[in-house]
Order: sequence, then structure tokens, then C-alpha cells
Amino acid sequence: MSTTEELYRQLVPRRRCDTYVYERTGHTMPWFVPARILDALQTFEVRESDVFLVTYPKSGTNWTRKIMAMVMNNADEQLYGTDTPFGRKVIYPEMHQDEDEEPSYKKLEKIQGQRFIPTHLPPSLLPPQMFDKPVKIIYVARNPKDVVVSDFHHCIYSPFEEPCKWEEFLSVFLTKNKAYCGEWGSHVIPWWKKRDDPNILFIKYEDMIKDLGRCVKKIASFLQQDHLTEEQIMKTVKLCTFENMKQNPVDRNEDVLANLWKSDISKNPFIRKGKVGGWKEYFTVAQNEKFDQVYKKWIGDSGLEMEFELG
Ligand code: A3P
Repeated sequence: MSTTEELYRQLVPRRRCDTYVYERTGHTMPWFVPARILDALQTFEVRESDVFLVTYPKSGTNWTRKIMAMVMNNADEQLYGTDTPFGRKVIYPEMHQDEDEEPSYKKLEKIQGQRFIPTHLPPSLLPPQMFDKPVKIIYVARNPKDVVVSDFHHCIYSPFEEPCKWEEFLSVFLTKNKAYCGEWGSHVIPWWKKRDDPNILFIKYEDMIKDLGRCVKKIASFLQQDHLTEEQIMKTVKLCTFENMKQNPVDRNEDVLANLWKSDISKNPFIRKGKVGGWKEYFTVAQNEKFDQVYKKWIGDSGLEMEFELG
């Protein structure tokens, strides 16, 4: 039995998993993204000052969010994790895991001034006004082989996901409409096609790994934070390294893990390995060949090239 399978078997008995899913415009949606919330998002009032962070899960959302918070707060980490614009807790408008809580989109409606809005929704389920107004949108893409491995680990720990083995997990990722975000290709490619729009910044996780400083500068410039000094940029880079984030309870989302997930915070799926090419420890040769075929179809003639390993 592989280590991953052993881990899975140990964790499953602890899971309080509700497997309820439903269909929505060709997408399979999990119970924690309810239909009524998706309906409400169709008329969600988008403001021109809003800044969205759109990602397929496990593509570096929390990492990018931290960079954005740093550059928007002049590299002052004291403001991160506080109730300030960009510092405050993540509010995914689509997620609703606790019936007793006010829906996230309603909390967003109450925020005065600039809002930071992360989302994993595929293009067809996003608030339509996002495409009508010149809001700023950062899209982060990561090579899908590392995404699926990272997502597998996430799902092992999350009490909200359906338990399954690696083989099944990979097969669902490749052949079915994976719950919530759909196929990787149909999530990423529409944003890749919009990459030259002035209100869109398309970045790749692998480029962040290769040259974090360059990506931080790109993000700062996109968010009109050109006044940041070299020192503030360097401080942002330092605070956003994998090693630093791994030691920081806010970055580790420890409150979410402890309170909502009720899981062991020492095993952290939000800051796990942070590598390019980790998928090679999981894929068999046959799985890799199958993946490459599907990946080719996803990419089509879009011209998007992802890096699956770094030289
Ligand atoms: P791994 O599971 O491959 O390690 P998300 O925030 O979208 O859920 O993405 C999580 C992935 O981003 C995890 O990948 C995590 O380790 C990685 N990550 C988080 N912070 C990072 C950082 N500072 N540098 C590199 N990778 C990071």
C-alpha cells in the first residue's frame, strides 16, 4: 500500500463528509456551493474598484492572495489577517459551508470601499457583471499535474470532499466534470484568451516559483502600486517565500483548519510542498500518457504552454 493510501485510510473514519452534489449548467456542484448562492451571484453587484483573484483550486490562491495583501498594504504585514481591505479573511462568494452563517456574498455586499474577492468558479458561473465592468482580475494558472496531486492532498484532509483513492481521483479529474470547478481546461483557457485585456493579469504558478520578485512587481504594477520602494518589494518577496509562509499561522489558514475543518493543523494542505514537478512521485507511466492526451485536448490551439518541471 502506498503512503498516500495509508494516509487516506487513516483519515477517512474521521471525515464528516456529505457527498451531496447537483448539476448546474453542465457543472457538477458540491453541496457547499448551493444553487441559491449561485443564483444570487448572477445579480451580484460588482464594483469597478473590486479586485478578483480567480483560480482553479490548488494553483497558488493563498500565495497570490498574500502577495496582493502585501503590495496593497505597502508591505506592512501587521495589516495582513486584519479587517482591512486585502488584509481581511478570505471570502469566497460562492462558498456556504455553515447554514447558520450569513452567506459570503452578503458579507461582501456590506464591505465599504475596495473589495478583494477570491473565487474558484468557472467562467460560466461567475457574476456576469465581472465581464461588463473594468474590474481588475488576476488569474493564476498552475500545471494541472501538480494541481491534481495538490488537490488530492487537499481532499484527503478536507471534511467537505468525497473520499476516494488516487486512481479514482485522477480519473475524475481527467474524465468527468470535477465537482465545483469543472475541467481544468475550460477553467483556464478562457482567461488565457483574455490575457492581453488591460484589466486582466494572467500569471503562472511556475513563473512565481522561478522568479518571485518579478511576479511581485508585476502584481504591484497591475494593482497600481508602482510607488512601492525596492525595499517594500523585497520585503514582500521575503514574507511570501514558501518557508516563511509555512511558519505563519495566518498563512497556514490555521483558524479554518481548526475551527471549520476540525482537522489536524500540523498537516497543512494549503502550504504543503510548494514545488513544480511533485506529480512525478504519483503518476504511473500509463497515467501520465493518458493525462498528456487529455491535456492536449484541453489546450487545443490556444497556444498556452505550462511547465511541468523546471530544469
Ligand atoms: P502543493 O500542495 O503542491 O504543495 P491554493 O492556495 O490554491 O490552495 O494552492 C495550494 C498550493 O500552493 C499548495 O501546493 C501549496 O503548497 C502551494 N503554496 C502555498 N504557498 C506557497 C509559496 N509561498 N510558495 C510556493 N507554493 C506555495
